[in-house]
Amino acid sequence: MTPGNNDSRLIEVDDLTVKFKIPEGEVTAVNGLGFALERGQTFGIVGESGSGKSQSMLALMGLLASNGSASGRARFQGQDLLGLPEAQLNRIRGNKIAMIFQDPMTSLNPYLTVERQMTEVLELHKGLPRKAARTRAIASLEAVRIPDAASRIRRYPHEFSGGMRQRIMIAMALSCEPDLLIADEPTTALDVTVQAQIIALLRDLQRDFGTAIILITHDLGVVAGLCDQVMVLYGGRIMEQGSAESIFYRPTHPYTLGLLGAVPKLDHEGERLVAIPGVPPNMARLPAGCPFSERCAFADARCAVDRPPLAPANGDASVLRACRFEPADIARRAAEMLP
Ligand SMILES: Nc1ncnc2c1ncn2[C@@H]1O[C@H](COP(=O)(O)OP(=O)(O)O)[C@@H](O)[C@H]1O
Ligand SMILES: [Mg+2]
Repeated sequence: MTPGNNDSRLIEVDDLTVKFKIPEGEVTAVNGLGFALERGQTFGIVGESGSGKSQSMLALMGLLASNGSASGRARFQGQDLLGLPEAQLNRIRGNKIAMIFQDPMTSLNPYLTVERQMTEVLELHKGLPRKAARTRAIASLEAVRIPDAASRIRRYPHEFSGGMRQRIMIAMALSCEPDLLIADEPTTALDVTVQAQIIALLRDLQRDFGTAIILITHDLGVVAGLCDQVMVLYGGRIMEQGSAESIFYRPTHPYTLGLLGAVPKLDHEGERLVAIPGVPPNMARLPAGCPFSERCAFADARCAVDRPPLAPANGDASVLRACRFEPADIARRAAEMLP
């Protein structure tokens, strides 16, 4: 696809770290993340609010707040995104890498019609004349199943429902045919039925267009049917990482077990099983060891000071985890604890 890059690797992130300067000093919001994504694959980043999901992706896009800085490496099509000058990043953003956010209303301009917003992007990134841009925009809206797209494209964002607005955002992101789509909690603001529709849509689009997707969510249930690989974050660190199947069906980290316990049931809207007690950590005062140790049902005193490096789990080299306890022991004790 890209000259000089016949590798199947689309993006390779290594030791990604994000720090913010705050009045009291510095917080490390993202700490040493690493992952690789092949073309056309879907990668899930899961964790509660504040775990560093959004900041890790904003860092890749060069969109951190002014008090933030990123280090590490993020190779995308032969270039390190973290070192790129603004002008070059501008050519990648929205074009080769597109991003969609939780709340479409913050990204859509309420004063411009959908047509104007979509054609503007295509004129800018693809150099299309207005008429061709319009044709392509309508095709994108049709691809995300907006009925009667050719006439509805003339409407304003507020004339659409929340679910339809999220579809428009996805259409806008996909209209430039990006190699990578970063979707940051794309379904969080939507009700469960519409959520399921959007996830099904992403799955179809991926099948039809082969776009690689990084899907950010606090809800492990969302990644189950969509992602190839999953990274579980807490306190800016990787707790566990591996194939979606292993994370979902053979979780080995206490935090992953907790997240699975907190998966909302699709058939009983809003109902949750066991949740993880406590609140996400204060990033400015993380323990030296495992960030989850304060809330972990299995932790002992050493966990607060000692966190092992990521290592293969369950004899599976593709599953990495950071926990002092053996998966079998955790699973046994978890079974005893659950009602
Ligand atoms: N501009 C900022 N200044 C200081 N800290 C920040 C700033 N932006 C984000 N953070 C810190 O980064 C942490 C991770 O944020 P974020 O990646 O947005 O979490 P989430 O996983 O919910 O997407 C937050 O808990 C916060 O402590
Ligand atoms: Mg976020």
